[in-house]
Amino acid sequence: MHKKTKSNEGVDALALMRKWPGNGQHGRAMQMRAQVALAKRVSHISYEIRDIVRKAREVQKTGKKIIWMNIGDPNQYGFSPPVHITRAIHEALNDPKYSGYCPSEGDPELREAVAKAQETEKSRVFITSGLSEGIDFLFQSLLNPGDNILLPSPGYPLYNTKSRVLGGRDNFYCCSEDYLPSPEDIRKKINEKTRAIVVINPNNPTGAVYPRSLLQEIANIAGEHNLPIIADEIYDHLVLDGAPSINLRSLTKDVPLISGNGISKNFLYPGARVGWLAFSGEGTDALEGAIQKFCNQRLSVNWEMQRGALAAITTSPTHLEETHRQLLLRRDSFMKGISSIPSLHCPIPHAAFYTFVKVNSPKFRTDKEFVYSLLDETGVLVVPGSAFSPTLNGNYFRATFLPPPEEITEAFEKMGKFLKEKG
Ligand SMILES: Cc1ncc(COP(=O)(O)O)c(C=O)c1O
Repeated sequence: MHKKTKSNEGVDALALMRKWPGNGQHGRAMQMRAQVALAKRVSHISYEIRDIVRKAREVQKTGKKIIWMNIGDPNQYGFSPPVHITRAIHEALNDPKYSGYCPSEGDPELREAVAKAQETEKSRVFITSGLSEGIDFLFQSLLNPGDNILLPSPGYPLYNTKSRVLGGRDNFYCCSEDYLPSPEDIRKKINEKTRAIVVINPNNPTGAVYPRSLLQEIANIAGEHNLPIIADEIYDHLVLDGAPSINLRSLTKDVPLISGNGISKNFLYPGARVGWLAFSGEGTDALEGAIQKFCNQRLSVNWEMQRGALAAITTSPTHLEETHRQLLLRRDSFMKGISSIPSLHCPIPHAAFYTFVKVNSPKFRTDKEFVYSLLDETGVLVVPGSAFSPTLNGNYFRATFLPPPEEITEAFEKMGKFLKEKG
C-alpha cells in the first residue's frame, strides 16, 4: 500500500505507480511505492533563475523564439575566457601532478597569488568550488537555527536560500531607489541573533557600485557590533563606468572580513568552478578553522582548473578592455530600451551585466504574473524580482544585458508592444 507522507502529499497517485522489471512477463501486479521521504530543508531551496528555464523550454517547443535575458553566464552569449587561462588548464591536464587530490584548502601557488592580490596571508585563503561553495561553508559555520545573517534586499538569492536551509531567520536591509544600502537600516536590523553582514559590491541583481563613504560606514557599523562582513566582490573587475570598485579590505584593518571572489565573472569562466575566501581583520581564527574543516571533508577542488585560476590572476587582465566595451554596447542598448517604455524604470547599472527593473503597470498583480505572461506572449525571458528581494513592494524583474545589442532592441520592441496591449 502506498503510504501518504507529508513529502509526497499532492503527488498524483498514478505518478507513484512503478512497473518493476519483468512486470507483465511474469504476471506480477503493478506495485505502488511511496516516494522516498525528503528532509524538510529541501523545501527551502528555490532558485527562480533556473526554475523559469523549464517554462521557457516549453514555450520554445511551441516554435516561439526565446530571447534569453535570464542568466548571468557570459559564455552563453558569445563571451569566452582568455586563452592564457585555457592554455594553463591544458598544460595541467597533461601533467600527472595535477591528477590527484589537491590540498583541501587549495593549490599553494594559487593561495599565494590570491593572498598577494587581497593583501592578506596565504594561510588565510581558502579555494572553493566557485564562490558558491565558499558561501555554503561560511553559512554552515556561522548559523544556528534561529540566527540570522543580515542580507541586502535586493540581493543574490543563494544567500537567502542557504540561510533558510540552515534554519536561519530572514533579515534583510533595505536599499535606496538607486539600490544603495541604507546604513540606518543595517543598524536598525542588527539584533542579538545576527551573525554577519553580507555586502555584495558590485551588486547582482542591480549593477550598483557602492561609494567609498557608504562602505566605510558599513565597516564602522560592523566594527561597533563586532560582526564579520562577508564581502562578495565577484564582479569587482567589471565596473563599466565611473570609479573602480572599492574593496572593503582597503577600508578596515581590524574588522573581521571575508572577501569572496573567483574567476566566474571577472575572467568569464563560470564553468571552471573556482572561487575563494580571503580572510582579513581580527577575530576569525575559529571561523578559519571551521572553513578548513569544511574544505577537508570535501577533499579537494578540481586541481587543473585551479591552475587556470592561477594563470588568470597572475597575468595582466588584458581581456577586460574588450569585455567592458562589449558590455557597454549592450548596457546602452538596454537603457535605450528602458527609456522607450514609460512603464519601466531602472537606474543605470554601473557594473556587471544585470539590471533590476521596476514595472509600473496596474495590470499585473505580481511580478511572476508579469514575467510568465511576457514569456508566453513574446518569448522574452527575464526573472521575477521577488527571487532577489522578498521584501520589496511592487513588481520588479531582473534582466541580464548580455545578449547582442540587436537582440536587446528586439526584446524591448516586443516588451513595448506587450505592455501597450495590456494597457
Ligand atoms: C553575487 C554573486 N555571488 C556569487 C555567485 C556565485 O559565483 P560562483 O560561480 O563563483 O559560484 C554569483 C553568481 O552569479 C553571484 O552573482
